[in-house]
Amino acid sequence: MTTGADARVLGIESSCDETAAAVVRGGRAVLSSVVRSQVAEHAPWRGVVPEIAGRGHLEAIVPVVEEALSAARTSPRDLAAVAVTTQPGLVGSLLVGATTAKALAWAWSKPLVAVHHIEAHVYAALMSLPEWHFPYVTLVVSGGHTSLYRTESPLRHALLCSTRDDAAGEALDKAAALLGLPYPGGPSIEKAGTGGDPGAHPFKLPLLAPDSLDFSFSGLKTALLYHLKGPGLSRPEAPLPAGQALADLCASYEAAVVETLARKCLRACLQLDIPRLLVGGGVARNQRLRAAVARRAQRDNVQATFAAPEFCTDNAAMIAGLGHARWAAGKLADLAVDVAAR
Ligand code: KG4
Ligand code: ZN
Repeated sequence: MTTGADARVLGIESSCDETAAAVVRGGRAVLSSVVRSQVAEHAPWRGVVPEIAGRGHLEAIVPVVEEALSAARTSPRDLAAVAVTTQPGLVGSLLVGATTAKALAWAWSKPLVAVHHIEAHVYAALMSLPEWHFPYVTLVVSGGHTSLYRTESPLRHALLCSTRDDAAGEALDKAAALLGLPYPGGPSIEKAGTGGDPGAHPFKLPLLAPDSLDFSFSGLKTALLYHLKGPGLSRPEAPLPAGQALADLCASYEAAVVETLARKCLRACLQLDIPRLLVGGGVARNQRLRAAVARRAQRDNVQATFAAPEFCTDNAAMIAGLGHARWAAGKLADLAVDVAAR
């Protein structure tokens, strides 16, 4: 008989371009976390190609699950449940993970738990804390999402606001493509901007109204495009910047994204009078974002907690962790559960 504290959950994640499986004990102890990235396959297209992603998951999913179980020295009979991301994401990709999880749950006679990918990014930040004191203001900042929530429990998140257009990660990915830097753009821009002057090109921060919590990043990308190609795209053949000019431009663009995110999430903490902030999602891996948020949080007496870097980008430990919380709350899924893009 497993109790909540030692219950092991197998998590499976395949919503975008990472095939991942993990075993987590008691919702906290990560016994294994295997991530098979498809970055190399998608890099030539400077973005995720859904057909390639689906096929990649199909090839990787069984070996990745086997590796996660073996690294965790866990046999299927030791598991309390199988958890899987069912939304949001690319439907063809989600289906591979969901179908695998259903087949395993059925074959092993284990309960199935359906997990929302964005809620799992929040859970990844909660996993960094030894104790939880709800509520939190939560920033989820990834390639597909930039949203603020009021988090009441691992299972309850009230949406405060979202981006009106591009997600922050998307703004970095698109900027990298404009600059001829490799996909994914966030880490490329972070690397290329090292040693650059973040004040060299003062991009206007998209802060919107003084008390607005909404995000909008598409204007930044357009400003970069005009900076590169001239007003009205009058210099379409202009050479791309290199060397120090490239470093300055990347540092400045990244600073505009990072400053906007840092100001808005602290603004939310002050507006809601909640002195606790969680930050998760792929962009939360960014060192300059972590530093900017930490600096402002310290000034405003807010306790800021980030997901561990390896659990910011897509992984299955966060799926198994949240899966444990849902399993413990009796929130099980039917084997007929469907996947959803949104
Ligand atoms: O959470 P994630 O792995 O997938 C989604 O759910 O979208 O986030 C991927 C996003 C990409 O846009 C990528 O460029 C960005 O996270 N990213 C970063 C860094 N590492 C990944 N952005 C800024 N700095 C990084 N170090
Ligand atoms: Zn994600």
